Amino acid sequence: MTDPTDLTRRTVLTLGSFGAFGGALVLAGCSTDASDGSGSPTASPSPTLTEEPGTEPTTAPDAPAVGEDVAALADVPVGGSIDATINGQPALIAQPTAGQVVAFSAICTHQQCVVAAAGSEFDCPCHGSRFDAATGDVLNGPALEPLSPIAVSVSGDRIVAAS
Ligand code: FES
Repeated sequence: MTDPTDLTRRTVLTLGSFGAFGGALVLAGCSTDASDGSGSPTASPSPTLTEEPGTEPTTAPDAPAVGEDVAALADVPVGGSIDATINGQPALIAQPTAGQVVAFSAICTHQQCVVAAAGSEFDCPCHGSRFDAATGDVLNGPALEPLSPIAVSVSGDRIVAAS
């Protein structure tokens, strides 16, 4: 006859094996390779469609319609930044000095994760790249390229897309 403690031990060992296997799957799903920049992205930019006369539509990322309302100036702290959406794409807006507003694509130049506003810098949650909120320049890699700027201007108390 089977000893009930053996069955319990066997069940636990079996469940433990599945747990370890499942854990490996979860870890594999979250894994990215930061060493060579060839890992799969967790987000990807969707380019904006533009059309020129006599041509097929082409892609032009980060090209909002001029005058598109982006945010209220008062929503962006002086010396700080906010997450935003411009032309349906994740974006970052900063106000380095009062009345001076800059915007960038929030798509990380490393592996296309969505970068988050963090005061006077932008931080990528995937591999730790940090960018200067005033310039979009890389403060800390692995990203090597700055964030793509988006032209914006101040119109009254609003921030709008510029050309
Ligand atoms: Fe790797 Fe942003 S995607 S640091």
